[in-house]
Amino acid sequence: MNYRSLLAAALLTLPAALLAQTNAYPPSEVTTQNTTLLVDIDHRPAISLDGQWHIIVDPYGTGIYDFHHQVKSRGYFMDAKPKPGDEYDFSASPTLKVPGDWNTQRADLFYYEGPMWYEKDFDYTVKPHTRTFIHFGAANYRSYIWVNTHKVCEHEGGFTPFDCDITSVVHDGHNFVVAAVDNSRIPDGVPTLQTDWWNYGGLHRDVSIVEVPEQFIDDYDLHLVRTPDEASTNRTLEGYVHVEGAPAGTPVTVNIPELHATAQATTDANSRVAITIPVQSLTLWSPDTPKLYKVELTAGTGASADHLEDMHGFRTIETHGTEILLNGKPIFLRGVSIHAEAPYRTGRAYSQQDVDTLLGWCKELGCNFARLAHYPHDERMTRTADRLGILIWSEIPDYWALQFDNPVVLEKSKQQMREMIRRDRDKASIILWSVANETPDTEVRTKYLTTMANYARELDPTRLVTAALLVRTTKGANGPVKVVDDPLGKALDVVGTNEYIGWYDGPIDSIDKTTWDIHYQKPLIMSEWGGGARFGNHDRSAHPAPWSEEYQAELYRHQIPMLNKIPQLRGTTPWCLMDFRSPMRTLPGKEDNFNRKGMISDQGQKKEAFYILQKAYKTRSLGKAQ
Ligand code: GCU
Repeated sequence: MNYRSLLAAALLTLPAALLAQTNAYPPSEVTTQNTTLLVDIDHRPAISLDGQWHIIVDPYGTGIYDFHHQVKSRGYFMDAKPKPGDEYDFSASPTLKVPGDWNTQRADLFYYEGPMWYEKDFDYTVKPHTRTFIHFGAANYRSYIWVNTHKVCEHEGGFTPFDCDITSVVHDGHNFVVAAVDNSRIPDGVPTLQTDWWNYGGLHRDVSIVEVPEQFIDDYDLHLVRTPDEASTNRTLEGYVHVEGAPAGTPVTVNIPELHATAQATTDANSRVAITIPVQSLTLWSPDTPKLYKVELTAGTGASADHLEDMHGFRTIETHGTEILLNGKPIFLRGVSIHAEAPYRTGRAYSQQDVDTLLGWCKELGCNFARLAHYPHDERMTRTADRLGILIWSEIPDYWALQFDNPVVLEKSKQQMREMIRRDRDKASIILWSVANETPDTEVRTKYLTTMANYARELDPTRLVTAALLVRTTKGANGPVKVVDDPLGKALDVVGTNEYIGWYDGPIDSIDKTTWDIHYQKPLIMSEWGGGARFGNHDRSAHPAPWSEEYQAELYRHQIPMLNKIPQLRGTTPWCLMDFRSPMRTLPGKEDNFNRKGMISDQGQKKEAFYILQKAYKTRSLGKAQ
């Protein structure tokens, strides 16, 4: 093949977005391209690509641009052998562990923000009538993926999964994948430039090769239908199954062996079947009884059929006035906010051990609820919450000051909402989809997030929609009045509000004088409150100083009676379970680049406030005793 045809062939493999925007690497309007969304990845035949990947740190985009900043045909994705002009060699380059952010794996990458190249060889045997995907649990923040030099997809968003079809480019024997992952913060990103968490970059969740039949189940829902008599054990499950690539008339079976319940139907012209299954003696899922049933799905017939199974809980969630009803009964959500920060080692949490530690602390605290801030966590969190009986608030990172007037940003928010809901649609533990956190009260923001709230309902009408709102303060006769009247509240089923009285917002004793004026007759979750303390920093004086454990504990003692005065309070998720890294937190000796509002230090040390809240939850003295 002569040089020109090689150049033409290679240019076809380059990211279209890159070609369109050769003046900026990576282009700032990366739209997710050529990705698919598979479900129940951990229940599909897969080859793990976790382990050591060769890496090249590439702050100047040398792997994709030449010296005149033109897109080069022989980028690093060629995985070429070294020669003048191809001055790189993955096989001789250092490695990083995948999954894992790069910041906490190498000191010289701690603050690195920019492009990182990853390369992994893998052997494969092509199977007939099979589609092959490469699956990424998440990669922060924008990713460009090549297999055997062919560009297969690109993705923007740092906390949701994506799958790329490699059927046409993978072959028997030796193959290789090259990924360029860039964690640069961009103005039109989701989130945008400022966040109060560390911008951990890279392939921070599992990567695997996943095989599915030519026609495969790529989306399904099976939920319990609400009935006036929620206590009845004779109930109905409803939902749908979508079979990618299936012609109309493809048979689909859904079977729940333990309930001796089965439904059969055939796909319509949209490769989709509606499912209705009457069930008897169903045990409802709840924090007290986190009962999971094996659900078996089959699409198609014979050797080409797709078989998928997973464990699902069945429950209902709804609001009634200011009550949140789980299985028809009012529930108070005793929760805590959690970042996906790995206990002890820090960095992005991704392992079952990380999850067991974090949710184990939740249970120890007496929680039946957790707010997974401020982005979708690893799927292990929601699967484990299903097993442990912890209700979940799950959130996309529409955080602080997004470009709410930019339609490209709205599409990015919608894409991440789709990806979050597709992955976790059938996790019984999730009861709330959150569309935002602490966004500015402007008309353009309210329009944007009302669209997002309606979009979440359109994707999943079985759950409640919320957001964490800011509150404003007015002067009352006996002290400050916190007013909850953010117009976004109109679009929500459950109103979340963040407050820091006693920390950012007045001294601790101002908590006792504070009253609340809530303009919504809807359930309210106090989605953030708390203050900072450095573990081991003690001040046992009558008025302990901020950053001491005693100050944080005193703040909790004063917050609890104030919270109990809010008539429509139906849950709290104090900020937060464990200290987490943030470049915004620079106070030497107290913060040292950690947000210290955790009730537990990043080294697993429980501060005094942990026991204050634990007692309140276990004695049911915070919130209504349900
Ligand atoms: C904010 C924000 C959190 C942040 C916290 C804090 O309200 O929602 O992400 O970490 O408060 O200031 O500690």
